[in-house]
Amino acid sequence: MPSDATSFDPDELDPGAFYRLLTASIVPRPIAWVSTRAADGVLNLAPYSFFTVASTAPPIVQFTSVGHKDSWRNILETGEFVVNIGTESLIEQMNRTSEHVEHGVDEFALAGLTPERSATVAPPRVAEAPVSIECTKHLILDVGNCAVILGAVRHVAVARSILADDGLPDFARLAPPSRLGRSEWGLTPATVEHERP
Ligand SMILES: Cc1cc2nc3c(=O)[nH]c(=O)nc-3n(C[C@H](O)[C@H](O)[C@H](O)COP(=O)(O)O)c2cc1C
Repeated sequence: MPSDATSFDPDELDPGAFYRLLTASIVPRPIAWVSTRAADGVLNLAPYSFFTVASTAPPIVQFTSVGHKDSWRNILETGEFVVNIGTESLIEQMNRTSEHVEHGVDEFALAGLTPERSATVAPPRVAEAPVSIECTKHLILDVGNCAVILGAVRHVAVARSILADDGLPDFARLAPPSRLGRSEWGLTPATVEHERP
């Protein structure tokens, strides 16, 4: 049967169009809601969907800054950040913190969120977020027009209310929104269970 595929070639498409193709194809993406504290103490918060686990032992997570943004600069200067995992009822606040604002604007205050003291790092957690992963800078890699930021996990705080009987976060209770293409957000999808062969 002939394929019905349309071809896209990065040498022929402009970078913005190719970015939109990739972000509408690689879906859904989990969202790291990254809190940092600038060297002068100003709090910063922003969502990043180019986010995953980089290593399990030691535990390392990674996210990608497309270009060099405030979160990247704060981590470069202070070596610390927190990856918060939001829940569906926080989508508006998460989106609010993606606004490009002047340095000096506290993005917790901007979005009406509560900074909560972290256990191991100076940047605060988002108190409203059910999971917070405290990190110290492991490595920052320049890749193309991006900076891939890897953080060694120092501490994880999970709201008791979202834990299942096995002590792990329950997906339906965590209900993390995801990023899709365009301006779309994904809501909690249905799940099926398959034991690994
Ligand atoms: C759901 C969502 C996901 C995003 N993911 C990324 C991402 O992976 N990388 C990135 O550079 N920007 C991403 N952005 C845009 C940043 O959040 C935005 O540029 C923000 O202003 C960066 O803040 P900062 O300069 O305080 O770090 C995303 C925005 C939204 C709404």
